[in-house]
Amino acid sequence: MRYTLLYCILYLCLYIWLGLLPGRTSATVIEDIEVLVMLPKNNSYMFSIARVAPAIEYAKQRLKIGGGVYSGFNFNLRYEDSNCGNDALFSLVDRSCEKKPDLVLGPVCEYAAAPVVRMASHWNIPVISTGALASGFSDKEKEYSHLTRISPSYLKMAETFSAMFRHFNWKDALLIFDDDKEERNCYFTLEGVHLKLMEEYQTVHIAINTKEEGLNADDIINYIYESEVVIMCAGADIVRDIMLAVHRRRLTNGSYIFFNIELFNSSSYGNGSWKRGDRYDSEARQAYSALNTVTLLRTVKPEFDNFSLEVKRSIQKAGLPDCDDCDNINMFVEGFHDALLLYALALHEAIRNGLTKKDGAEITYRMWNRTFEGIAGQVSMDFNGDRYGDFSVMSMTNTEAGTYETVCNYFGVNESFQMLPVFNPELFTLKGRHRVHHTDLPDKSCGLGVSAVTGIIVGALLGTALLIAFYFIRKNYTITIERRSAREEHDIGKHRQLREDSVRSTFSAA
Ligand SMILES: *[C@@H]1O[C@H](CO)[C@@H](O)[C@H](O)[C@H]1NC(C)=O
Ligand SMILES: *[C@@H]1O[C@H](CO)[C@@H](O)[C@H](O)[C@H]1NC(C)=O
Ligand SMILES: *[C@@H]1O[C@H](CO)[C@@H](O)[C@H](O)[C@H]1NC(C)=O
Ligand SMILES: *[C@@H]1O[C@H](CO)[C@@H](O)[C@H](O)[C@H]1NC(C)=O
Ligand SMILES: *[C@@H]1O[C@H](CO)[C@@H](O)[C@H](O)[C@H]1NC(C)=O
Ligand SMILES: *[C@@H]1O[C@H](CO)[C@@H](O)[C@H](O)[C@H]1NC(C)=O
Ligand SMILES: *[C@@H]1O[C@H](CO)[C@@H](O)[C@H](O)[C@H]1NC(C)=O
Repeated sequence: MRYTLLYCILYLCLYIWLGLLPGRTSATVIEDIEVLVMLPKNNSYMFSIARVAPAIEYAKQRLKIGGGVYSGFNFNLRYEDSNCGNDALFSLVDRSCEKKPDLVLGPVCEYAAAPVVRMASHWNIPVISTGALASGFSDKEKEYSHLTRISPSYLKMAETFSAMFRHFNWKDALLIFDDDKEERNCYFTLEGVHLKLMEEYQTVHIAINTKEEGLNADDIINYIYESEVVIMCAGADIVRDIMLAVHRRRLTNGSYIFFNIELFNSSSYGNGSWKRGDRYDSEARQAYSALNTVTLLRTVKPEFDNFSLEVKRSIQKAGLPDCDDCDNINMFVEGFHDALLLYALALHEAIRNGLTKKDGAEITYRMWNRTFEGIAGQVSMDFNGDRYGDFSVMSMTNTEAGTYETVCNYFGVNESFQMLPVFNPELFTLKGRHRVHHTDLPDKSCGLGVSAVTGIIVGALLGTALLIAFYFIRKNYTITIERRSAREEHDIGKHRQLREDSVRSTFSAA
């Protein structure tokens, strides 16, 4: 009788122990994960391997040591030089011969990302990038189905503008961008603005190519006369030249509103600085009092300091040559850190639901429509796998000293503005305006005396952009004008159809 009781108790203990066992193992999952990191080696890119690797390693360590449930994940990181073009696709294919990776981090450049994301989506491998910001990547239905963008895309940035247009009741925009025909950051930046604004407002855009053609400010001024809000994306010197020309024509009198986009300290964007130490400084300072800058809203929290210090320390230890500002923690560095966290969250959830690391699509969906704590603050992903963005608008608040301050912030997650005390509504109100009737506007493109003036539809699909880039790369042209309004909705439908066709034809030609 006593023995039976003892056995009973023993049995019970064993039963409880066994019952607990699966619970324990499912909490900490042991898993080896092959990660292919595809970034350029060249340190002139803000997201070069040398700059980003310490951040990814930091995330890996943090998951390992502090993470509890994630400490069983062994990330085998492999870094490949993606350059900024097709090399990325070739290294993905080469590296995947024996064994396909479970996760791809990067590429950032649009033209490197496009083929890699297509291939990875086809292979059911999740891709997380801090780049691939062009609007074409928003289409996750087909070829970019496995892409998660952990930095706010250009379309998210453009929401800042559409919110301002609504708020201040502006009606039309002139978009001016410097198209370098290589990485085309400004082209893709304003493509996002164009796509967002054209839904409701009149937009006209001008492409310039200052590298080949220089700048002819007079041509541009003619278009400014006929618009309300001017949005520019160009290098600092070009923006300054345009603003100087604008100021000399007295267009900074409040009847026009000017914006400059400066997203991540890249040289393709102006930095809002008017000062050059030349004789135009004083004039430029006055001109810039009418110029507002849209930039990323950066937040930091206490954990960020440690992260920042550690990343800086490992970069200094590596002693990189030709890398002056390499220890500057930018959006890309931060984003790739958060990318690994997000993947770990999603993978853990997937495994607990009986899936494996090979269920790429399932893991991808688990990264979408969720909010988590990133290294610099909260990261919110929309249900399409794109991060909501927060942006700041800066204006000159001291016209004597010519200094800038953030005057308002835009929060993408709740689509709201936050006006700071220094916000001056005067600067955002159109004064004494003549209403423009664009329907009466003659098409001036013939009068510009340009050898090849061609209308480019800023494509909603990257494929078109690729095609255009290829087609025009050797052509000598200066200004490209596309004018479209909501009234022409039926035409847009047609264009969209055409774009899809051209994407297909690039495929069949390849
Ligand atoms: C890195 O890129 C810069 C700018 O594109 C270029 O001037 C430089 O030669 C490149 N360096 C290497 C090692 O390829
Ligand atoms: C740009 O660089 C400057 C100086 O290096 C730095 O103070 C600023 O925070 C940077 N801005 C962004 C958005 O990274
Ligand atoms: C802004 O860019 C110009 C030209 O590239 C440069 O001379 C200036 O030092 C930059 N200013 C800042 C604050 O980075
Ligand atoms: C960052 O945190 C880690 C672990 O908490 C610590 O070992 C390290 O010394 C910290 N680094 C700095 C620079 O404070
Ligand atoms: C996003 O998540 C919320 C709950 O967190 C859910 O109610 C909503 O349906 C999800 N949206 C989509 C499009 O999946
Ligand atoms: C929107 O979100 C931001 C940041 O999360 C917050 O500070 C702000 O108060 C929110 N605004 C509204 C109107 O909910
Ligand atoms: C500003 O200048 C433009 C062009 O000269 C003119 O049409 C407009 O009426 C002026 N606005 C004000 C408020 O003086």
